[in-house]
Amino acid sequence: MEKAERIRVRVPGKVNLALRVGGRRADGYHPLDTVFQAVSLFDEVEALPAPRGVRTVRVLGDQASLVPTDESNLALKAAQALASYAGMRQPGVELVIRKTIPVTGGMAGGSADAAAALIACAALWRIDVAPDELAVVAAGLGADVPFCLMGSTALGRGRGDELVPMLSRGSYHWVLALPDVELSTPEVFARFDELNPDAGPAPETPPGLLAGLASGDIAQVADNLVNDLQPAAVSLRPHLADVLAAGVDAGALTGIVSGSGPTCAFLSENEDAAVRLSNALAGSDLARAVRRVCAPVPGARLLSC
Ligand code: C5P
Repeated sequence: MEKAERIRVRVPGKVNLALRVGGRRADGYHPLDTVFQAVSLFDEVEALPAPRGVRTVRVLGDQASLVPTDESNLALKAAQALASYAGMRQPGVELVIRKTIPVTGGMAGGSADAAAALIACAALWRIDVAPDELAVVAAGLGADVPFCLMGSTALGRGRGDELVPMLSRGSYHWVLALPDVELSTPEVFARFDELNPDAGPAPETPPGLLAGLASGDIAQVADNLVNDLQPAAVSLRPHLADVLAAGVDAGALTGIVSGSGPTCAFLSENEDAAVRLSNALAGSDLARAVRRVCAPVPGARLLSC
């Protein structure tokens, strides 16, 4: 009998270096002007053969119990969307997700798993799908899913799903503090609406950020990080202000809330500074976990084994 193929996909989480947010649209989404950067915190999604009509998901690792395994799981929805796109009738798959990206942490963890599931199921079911077609299926699953496929550094407009890859030089050393508080993305956007009742189109990404990325000037990038959702996240969870202040006191160039939070991301001057900062934050009781990552890294990719 032919040995069953082992299909594994590795996918990164993201931080937003700029997250400019406009007023709520009629469809409930907010117009964004954002710069995504993929960071070296990876989930892994494995796709195993299953009988026709059987689609299941198991979740292992950090905070696995917080991820639903019913049909609301975004990786299962991705499998369904791909099968429909390809016109396949009920192909089976058993998905296994190994989580490292924080769950509802503002780092696109669920979107990452959906992106990985698209690649994994395409390989398992031998669907030949072009990257731009996969990006369309991805956008139907969530605003961050196309970026999780693409990775590296990209400018996002629209809901964040209209992507342009960006020129970026240099290697960025981040320390991520994962505070022991929960925040839901719709809740943070709703607070943004309360705080910004007159918001119009999304403001522009600071030109200094684009210039800093193009030249690899980390100090200039640090000076131009911006997240319009940060005041909303901090007003819902004031503890985040203490975490941000602690990171800067401990030597970060700057700190921001990642996406809708609650993860706080601190940019360091270099790797040594990041090691010192992560040790200092790990020694405090401000976060349930601290992770050191580098960026940018590629998007969802098949692992050969
Ligand atoms: O697209 P996704 O399902 O990941 O988005 C989760 C939620 O975040 C949306 O339901 C919406 O409340 C909010 N959101 C938004 N505007 C965006 C992206 C997300 O309001 N551009």
